Amino acid sequence: MRLEIFVVGGNLNVPGVVVAPYSTIVYMEHEDKKILVDPGSFVTHQALEKKLMEKGLTRLDITDVLLTHFHLDHAYSTRYFENATIYVHENYEKKDYEKFGDIVGKEYMDTLKSWKSVKKLRGGEKLFEKIEVLHTPWHAREHVSFIVETENLGKVFLPGDICFTKLDYYEMVKGYREGASSEFCVDKAQEVDLIVFTHDEPLVVKR
Ligand code: NI
Repeated sequence: MRLEIFVVGGNLNVPGVVVAPYSTIVYMEHEDKKILVDPGSFVTHQALEKKLMEKGLTRLDITDVLLTHFHLDHAYSTRYFENATIYVHENYEKKDYEKFGDIVGKEYMDTLKSWKSVKKLRGGEKLFEKIEVLHTPWHAREHVSFIVETENLGKVFLPGDICFTKLDYYEMVKGYREGASSEFCVDKAQEVDLIVFTHDEPLVVKR
């Protein structure tokens, strides 16, 4: 398994007008699999397209898309990967997306309808022999985190939105944040080489 960060996530916010968090997009290759984690939204679609072009790939070459959770800043762009199987925790089916709003609800429903092949996760799986799936329902009930054994970057931790940024992580390490998600992140960080944050630059962990 080789892992590459395609787009580093961040957050755009103009109070009252623009709310545009955008998630980190990770690309992985394993044997004949071409995998994206959290393909993001329209905020980053040009950056994603550029990265795919650099690799000589089109959107139809992507075989698998893994979602940490079903929020649109992570999942809107799943619609472009028509040949991919979408991996998402089974709890995504328990939400009534139409209640999310007239426009936002429709965006969720359109995204869901675009999924041709879905593999439901429960946590505890090992995908492609290298990706550990951990159910971490503290940000959303369908939220999962991933730990990936890679050839090029060692063991990589993708906590998802239970730890958005480096600052969140440092606060967890220093004990300023209590609770299960904080304990989980600090614990898992001890066994990895790199943490990839959803809305910040990655962090090399000194073990
Ligand atoms: Ni989220």
